[in-house]
Amino acid sequence: MTDPAAAPAASPSAESSPWWRSAVIYQVYPRSFADADGDGVGDLPGITARLDHLRDLGVDAVWVSPFYPSPQADAGYDVADYCDVDPLFGTLADAERLIDAAHQRGLKVIIDVVPNHTSDRHPWFQRALAAAPGDEVRDWYHFRSPDPDDPEAPPNDWPSEFGGSAWSKTPDGQWYLHLFDSSQPDLNWEHPPVREAFRDILRFWLDRGVDGFRIDVAHGLVKAPGLPDSGLTREELATSALPTHTAPYFDQDGVHEIYRDWRGILEGYPGERLMVAEAWIRPYDRIARYVRPDEHHQAFNFGFLGTAWDAQELREHITRSYAANDPVGAPTTWVLSNHDVVRHATRFGWPAESLVTQLDGTMPEPVRETGLRRARAATTLMLALPGSAYLFQGEELGLFEVLDLDPSVRQDPTFHRTDGDRLGRDGCRVPLPWEAEEPAFGFSPTGEAWLPQPDGFQELAVDQQAGVAGSTLELYRALLAVRRERGLGTGEMRFVDEPVVEATVDSQSVVAFDVTTPAGTTRVLLNLGPALPLPEDATVLVASGPLQDGTLPTDTAVWLAV
Ligand code: GLC
Repeated sequence: MTDPAAAPAASPSAESSPWWRSAVIYQVYPRSFADADGDGVGDLPGITARLDHLRDLGVDAVWVSPFYPSPQADAGYDVADYCDVDPLFGTLADAERLIDAAHQRGLKVIIDVVPNHTSDRHPWFQRALAAAPGDEVRDWYHFRSPDPDDPEAPPNDWPSEFGGSAWSKTPDGQWYLHLFDSSQPDLNWEHPPVREAFRDILRFWLDRGVDGFRIDVAHGLVKAPGLPDSGLTREELATSALPTHTAPYFDQDGVHEIYRDWRGILEGYPGERLMVAEAWIRPYDRIARYVRPDEHHQAFNFGFLGTAWDAQELREHITRSYAANDPVGAPTTWVLSNHDVVRHATRFGWPAESLVTQLDGTMPEPVRETGLRRARAATTLMLALPGSAYLFQGEELGLFEVLDLDPSVRQDPTFHRTDGDRLGRDGCRVPLPWEAEEPAFGFSPTGEAWLPQPDGFQELAVDQQAGVAGSTLELYRALLAVRRERGLGTGEMRFVDEPVVEATVDSQSVVAFDVTTPAGTTRVLLNLGPALPLPEDATVLVASGPLQDGTLPTDTAVWLAV
């Protein structure tokens, strides 16, 4: 481990830099953001109608999770047509209106591309099923004939990410591969027409003005030749320290050629268009390969997302992130929540030793107040770091994970494929509260909501927090405003070791760094230990919670002008 204090991170100044190097990007999960037509599922007109919330928050871009025609077996990550909009969410014209309305407000728009798999309802898969085994149209996917000696044995030992085997049988007895749900067959990226089809899909949306793409399962497209056994269960791979590419279905070298090809397509369009990789892989230097200058512009930093509430660990992950990305010239990204993990306001309410990002149903009851306090402090730390940051809808309200959803309303295939052993991701996807006194807290005009909202969301509604000093919403607004004023997200950061703090304080429980931009130096202090005296002459720019008699209380972060 390198010495954190010795690892300054450089990034160019805001003026010379493309927007995405320091952008704050807000993830909208369409079915849960805002429902304009009252059917209980959020939609594109709902997003458009609420864009002022994002403008007022002060983010730079919105990333919209999938809204394509889909049977919704995995909430839209099972795509049946990449170039249209599901009637559940609206029309193609609604998508175009959303892009325009966002642009009018100075917000960029990023959309999801799901290239690892399609829905089993996609015409490509339907066509393959209709053809005989061995027909060329089956080459779009990974079909295998059963072993005559053991017809019930899947072709290899690969696990589905959602539980069970990664192989299912077609009605004619062939096996097909699905790293996720059985309704999400994996495409065969060795087959040239698949590559050609996705080039057209990217162009379709670039022509409609999108500013970039989030690439779903970017590490999964290419499989090891011959699809050899993995020798590892999903849990073994997830809990070991092995590099992810030990598994023959993730992070294989062949994926990079695809992204170089796509980067060329993006470069052919005016403006600075972005690709961000969703690649859940280890270690950091393998992730950096996705953000080499001719590949993605960014990759999500899931190592940081999984960090425990521990000063040493936080410092290490920050240091390692920059150490991996700086050599390839890519900005580091920061993220604490998304639609696949336990909301950080809940995660941090668990004891450090049981902090997990996925729910197995055996978690202790989180302490909500501690979780929120730490979540606010973590976000305050994150938004000062050079690089780009991702926010997940509702975190600006301090929303918690809804842990007690009734099994009958749970929709995540993870829950059903594991017979409830894994609770799945519905708890972070509960519809947002906008107005406390309206039906469904303003989510839909009829009061319908595809997942029930807990009573506790009422007091967290946007209208309960807007303009209220000390609310989580006002904290986010202040952080983003000061970030903009001081050019944070750009500049150089350096950990501060010398006594920023009185000698009596254990600096092991403090994360302290300076960020220097043309606007000056901002000192960031995150205190995980006992109350910390602040320097007397410090100007407080923003704090994640109330200060007490000139001290920074535990689980609180502050930005100081120095
Ligand atoms: C990604 C998405 C997740 C989805 C999976 C399969 O991890 O973020 O929501 O279930 O891919 O598409």
